[in-house]
Amino acid sequence: MSKVSDEELNVATWKIPSPLGIIGSGSKNSYNGMTASWITQINMNPLLIAVGIDNKSVTHKLMSDSDYFTINLFSEKYTKVFVKFSKPAVHTEGFLNKEPITLTENNVPIFDNALVWFELRKKNVHDYGTHTLYVGEVVDCKTMETDERIAYMGDTRMKYGGVPRGGH
Ligand SMILES: Cc1cc2nc3c(=O)[nH]c(=O)nc-3n(C[C@H](O)[C@H](O)[C@H](O)COP(=O)(O)O)c2cc1C
Repeated sequence: MSKVSDEELNVATWKIPSPLGIIGSGSKNSYNGMTASWITQINMNPLLIAVGIDNKSVTHKLMSDSDYFTINLFSEKYTKVFVKFSKPAVHTEGFLNKEPITLTENNVPIFDNALVWFELRKKNVHDYGTHTLYVGEVVDCKTMETDERIAYMGDTRMKYGGVPRGGH
């Protein structure tokens, strides 16, 4: 238990500079994209990246049912994509929320408009209570040729993290 107020915890935690991406998940015929900021590399060899995923999310369900997931990063000029993916996405053939996707041979979606994407094989899973840490090993990735900078949380007015608020 912390001795500081929820507000103090939130204000301090929200100051942590965060990346921003969309986690692509899929299992059988269900697919999702989810705006996420808890994304970080945690090892070099093997190359491991960890993501923190809400236990109540559709993404958590799909990631627990599959051995693979993707991380998609977008241009600083295209932050509106993150607004579209902060609730469960609508899947139609070749699209999630009208964003074009390509399914990998491991049946997880890569976003065609991403400037950088990673496909990861699930390596470790640890449930911490509200969120589960998924550690994935990079099995494929691509960076599009462009001078555009990748968007991060500070490019938007969005916030995520701190202590649970309502539905968190
Ligand atoms: C800026 C921003 C960052 C977010 N980061 C995360 C995150 O790192 N992990 C997470 O579980 N949810 C995060 N969320 C919340 C999810 O995007 C949202 O709850 C979600 O779409 C629910 O997941 P689902 O579509 O898989 O059900 C974030 C939301 C926003 C707006």
